[in-house]
Amino acid sequence: MTQTATLLDGKAVAAKVRGEVKERAAAFAARHGRAPGLAVVQVGTDPASSVYVRSKRKACEETGIRSFAHDLPAGVGRGELLALVVRLNADPAVDGILMQLPLPAGLDANEIMDTIDPRKDVDGFHPQNTGLLAQKRPRLRPCTPFGVIRLAQEYGMKLRGLRATVVGASNIVGRPMALELLLAGCTVTVCHTGTRDLAAEVERAELVVAAVGRPGMVRGGWIREGASVFDVGINRTESGKLVGDVEFETAAQRAGAITPVPGGLGPMTIAMLLSNTLDAADAIAQGRGR
Ligand code: GUN
Repeated sequence: MTQTATLLDGKAVAAKVRGEVKERAAAFAARHGRAPGLAVVQVGTDPASSVYVRSKRKACEETGIRSFAHDLPAGVGRGELLALVVRLNADPAVDGILMQLPLPAGLDANEIMDTIDPRKDVDGFHPQNTGLLAQKRPRLRPCTPFGVIRLAQEYGMKLRGLRATVVGASNIVGRPMALELLLAGCTVTVCHTGTRDLAAEVERAELVVAAVGRPGMVRGGWIREGASVFDVGINRTESGKLVGDVEFETAAQRAGAITPVPGGLGPMTIAMLLSNTLDAADAIAQGRGR
C-alpha cells in the first residue's frame, strides 16, 4: 500500500508562527524602545543540548528577539546558578528565561526551575504555570505540547471529543500534552512504563502523541485507520539518521495525518518558544500576571 496520510508540515507552520512573532517583536520594539529579550542558559556541553540552544539563539535573531547567551561550565555551583537566575529575573531587558535541560547531575533541576520568575518562564515548566494549565486557565504553556495544538489547529483538526493517547508521561512533554488535549476537549489516556498493554491503548486512539525518545516504540501497525499521529521523538540512529518514536513508513499507510521527523514538532517547539517570549514580554509590559 502507498502512503495516504497527510504530512503535517511543522516546518511550514513554524515559519508562519515565526512571521507573526517577527511582526509582534517589531511592534514591541516600536512601543517600548527595546527589543523583547530571551536569556538562554546552558550548563555544560551536552552535544544535543548545544544543538538545540544554537537553534534557539539563531531563531531569536531572525525574529527580532534579543538573545542573551549564558554558557556555564558543568561544574558550576548551585549558588552561582541560582544567583544568575535571580539576576535575570530582575533584569528589565530579559522577558523570558530558558534553562536548557537536562542540567548536570549534582544540580537540583526542580530548585533551579522553581526560582525562575513564572512571568518569565517561557518553557511553561514552573509549577504555577503547570497549575494554571491544569485549571484550564493557561498562561505560559510548554512549547512542544502547545506546538502540537497549534499544528492541529492550522490543519483545521477538530479535537473536541477525540480519543487521544499520549505515549510518555514526562514533565516536559507527556504530562502537559495530556493537559492540553484535555483543554481541547479530548478524552485522554496517558501511557507510561507501568502501562500493561500499550498496543491496545494506541489502537483505539484517534489522535496519538508519541514522546518517549525511543525509535520505533510505537509500531505502525497499532495506528488506527485515519488517526492523527504527532511524533515528538527525535532520535539519532547508529547510521546518523534522525527518526521519531513512531515506525513512520507503516504508520503513514494507516494514519490520516502524520508529522515527519525531522520537520514536524522540532521546528514547532522553537516557534512556540519565540511566541511565548512575546506573550511574556507583552504581559510584563502591561503589568499582568503574578
Ligand atoms: N530539553 C529538552 N527539551 C527541552 C525544552 O523544551 N526546554 C528546555 N528548557 N530544555 C529541554
